[in-house]
Amino acid sequence: MFENKIVLTGVKPTGTPHIGNFLGAIRPALQLGHQVLDAGGKHYMFIADYHAINAEKDPQVLNQKLKEIACVYLAFGLDPNRTIFYRQSDIYQIPEITTILYAYTPKGFMNKAHAYKACLDKNREAGKPDDDGINMGLYTYPTLMAADILTFDTDIVPVGKDQVQHVEIARDIAGIINAHYNQKLLHLPEYYLDQNVAVVPGIDGRKMSKSYGNVIPIFADDKEIKKAVFSIKTDSRPMEEPKNPEEILVYQVYKSVASADKVAEMAYGLENGKLGYGHIKNMLLDGIIDLVKESREKYQYYMEHFEEVEAMLEEGAAKARPHAAKTLERLRNAVFGR
Ligand code: TRP
Repeated sequence: MFENKIVLTGVKPTGTPHIGNFLGAIRPALQLGHQVLDAGGKHYMFIADYHAINAEKDPQVLNQKLKEIACVYLAFGLDPNRTIFYRQSDIYQIPEITTILYAYTPKGFMNKAHAYKACLDKNREAGKPDDDGINMGLYTYPTLMAADILTFDTDIVPVGKDQVQHVEIARDIAGIINAHYNQKLLHLPEYYLDQNVAVVPGIDGRKMSKSYGNVIPIFADDKEIKKAVFSIKTDSRPMEEPKNPEEILVYQVYKSVASADKVAEMAYGLENGKLGYGHIKNMLLDGIIDLVKESREKYQYYMEHFEEVEAMLEEGAAKARPHAAKTLERLRNAVFGR
């Protein structure tokens, strides 16, 4: 399905990822990228730093997060010679294209966008004025995202559920402009929702999330990972008691981490009272360390040699800009009648 397609993924610089981010977002995005490239498609991946400044006003914090996210993707196998990997803010055409899109974007589209609506609802619940703490960057977020997508004539945008609406808005904006000028100025994108993406439970059984404080880190040292793994909730049943693996949190996390044989081994041990909680936690710990060991070293390397990463991002931007310039020119010619 990705033959000769243009596929684009945006990532927000959210800081050091945990195993839930890795299994639920980073790994699937990279696997998809490889699939696209192997099928002769084009893969764009960028760090959405213009989006990030809506929330993060401290440039030092922002830069640290950007640095971390870039190194994470490289450490886990993003190949900058194949994927066009860049920083959103290095593509000067994006804000210009965004401004043109504004003129064709119904305000109602922004009113109904989830990210904005969530903030509005929070304000109302807290008895605050509707607009409290909401800046125009957040409000118009989907138009900038539409520019990210439409700039590169993207065919497919892989997304999580929460981003489907944003891709639909991009498509609708493109449709409005094309209809107005009665020509195919902008390519209509589609979203791709991967149904098989893992939702990894955290150490307390809720979805793993930094905001719940229940994460297993990946780029920490072994001791820290061990501490998190050993604090996964268990009960006081003895080892000999046969257990249903599906009810055991350690097993649930293991399923996303280990190979099918290893998972079957753990299931067998639990069902037959041959593995205790200490055993399975050690198995999980080994599984996690195996999964990330090599990448951890690469991550350290890139963090310490960020100038190399910087050069890759610049190169990526240089590859992306000509396409962006073409789209901008097409739009300018149409809207200004040149
Ligand atoms: N909004 C996306 C997120 O929150 C990030 C993003 C920005 C993006 N621009 C994009 C994703 C364009 C895909 C395409 O994760």
